[in-house]
Amino acid sequence: MIIAIDGPSGAGKSTVAKAVAKRLGFSCLDTGAMYRAVAWRALADGVALDDAEGLGRIAREREVSFVHEPGDPMPKGVAIDGADVSTAIRTAEIDRAVSPVSAVAAVREALVAQQRRIGRSGDYVVEGRDIGTAVFPEASVKVFLTASAEERAHRRVRQNVDRGVGSIDYGEVLADIRRRDDIDSSRAASPLKPAEDAVRLDSTGRYIEDVIDDICALARQAL
Ligand code: C5P
Repeated sequence: MIIAIDGPSGAGKSTVAKAVAKRLGFSCLDTGAMYRAVAWRALADGVALDDAEGLGRIAREREVSFVHEPGDPMPKGVAIDGADVSTAIRTAEIDRAVSPVSAVAAVREALVAQQRRIGRSGDYVVEGRDIGTAVFPEASVKVFLTASAEERAHRRVRQNVDRGVGSIDYGEVLADIRRRDDIDSSRAASPLKPAEDAVRLDSTGRYIEDVIDDICALARQAL
């Protein structure tokens, strides 16, 4: 069974996806981390963000994998070519680089193929931008999770502090969120938009626990 959770940056997808997966005994697939890992490799290799061919090559030839604690089905991070980049992909530099990287059709093609392979290997909560529309259009449950840009920026600032990657400026985060929403929604390849059959949930001003309850209820109905 696949539960697809799509939505813009900072809407709470990761927190919600992990909690739903834990409650239902599913695994979790963070597709944004895969695009971030490719962006990280591109910056490390000096591949320009407008070099579609070079970016496509990274996505096809470098191995993106998930890091697990022994015996824990829930991944704790992501690696590329065996290098654990879980923390390195959460910087403002990667935030800026990832949208142009993920707009490249060849990058999406390579990563989507891998996402389908992973998702078909068991029960998964898959979070991203195009999961319900393009990666798993047959998903049993599709959720489009949103929140206001301001609330999302506040959450991102708090999350960075919690993750220990340093403090960031609220105004800059808000501007970056708006810029990424814009690129992600207007790109030609799989733009960010709700699937027609997605349930739309707005997490602005709501307790995250309540959103998690809503999604678990939808999943139980679909079982
Ligand atoms: O979810 P997260 O913010 O980590 O995703 C980082 C970026 O990866 C997004 O801004 C988007 O450009 C891209 N992405 C995507 N398709 C997905 C997941 C993420 O294009 N399924």
